[in-house]
Amino acid sequence: SWTPDSFVDTTVSKLKEQLGNDKVVLGLSGGVDSTVAAVLLDKAIGKNLYCIFVNNGLLRKNEFESVLDQYEHMGLNVKGVDASARFLKALEGISEPELKRKAIGGTFIEVFDDEAHHIQDVKWLAQGTIYPDVIESVSVTGGPSATIKSHHNVGGLPDYMKLKIVEPLRMIFKDEVRRVGKTMGIDPELLGRHPFPGPGLGIRILGDITAEKVRILQEVDAVFLNGLKKWNLYDDVWQAGAMLLPVNSVGVMGDERTYEKVVALRAVSSTDGMTADWVNLPYEFLQETSNKIINGVKGVNRVVYDISSKPPATIEWE
Ligand code: XMP
Repeated sequence: SWTPDSFVDTTVSKLKEQLGNDKVVLGLSGGVDSTVAAVLLDKAIGKNLYCIFVNNGLLRKNEFESVLDQYEHMGLNVKGVDASARFLKALEGISEPELKRKAIGGTFIEVFDDEAHHIQDVKWLAQGTIYPDVIESVSVTGGPSATIKSHHNVGGLPDYMKLKIVEPLRMIFKDEVRRVGKTMGIDPELLGRHPFPGPGLGIRILGDITAEKVRILQEVDAVFLNGLKKWNLYDDVWQAGAMLLPVNSVGVMGDERTYEKVVALRAVSSTDGMTADWVNLPYEFLQETSNKIINGVKGVNRVVYDISSKPPATIEWE
């Protein structure tokens, strides 16, 4: 019968046989799947695994630095590439959600391709594809694999996509991926992370994206997520985040009239993201969070909570 330990043993020996002394490149996203795939490959081929972690500038607050640090402590051969400015430039003036996704996905491919070229004689591209990604044509799990797949039909494939593909998780489900990660000693906090979309905060800033809007949303999101953890609500929620609305509302601070941004908080329960319900978060939690956001984040004067289920609403607003 299937156990995480036997899966690790057989997968590592298969990978050793398949890859020999070949070099492999893998894009880490900070998510569960790419991390577990990387640790399996690291066990099999060590320094011949070259991991690339791209900062698209649309990650959560401090996420790039802290996750990169965590990967380094795990002993992975990882290179962090801060391409924030390049992504912001590519997104300049774009408001339409699908065009934003294209700009972000396209820039990711350019950055990854540039980096893959620095690795001499790399033969393989590893991906954290899991079984549900294999049966659905487009992944909803986030991260580089989803980005790559949705761009298969763009034409003019980048060079790194001519590499052979290795996908050690393609036969297993998410809960099994978590168990495999656990048995290999990966930090439970990392394994329990909420899903996060590949385009990141880019699809949670409605309308066009600027550095200032990213800053505001990162602050708001951090208050919300840290609060969920502090109140022990994080693990009861499947996914949570904040949306920056393209709306200003009137407020008052002291004797002054303000005219500032509105943010919407969203927390859902789900098993696979295909359907979802909004979570009935305690009023006391919402009250504390709203006060912290409005008092602590410059540029926001109103907080609303999204009480829409999927379907017909989606989890993300774009
Ligand atoms: P929706 O908004 O469609 O989201 O209800 C379902 C799940 O998919 C994630 N999502 C994405 N993941 N690239 C991704 O990698 C995307 O473009 C994308 N759009 C949505 C969303 O966060 C949720 O987990």
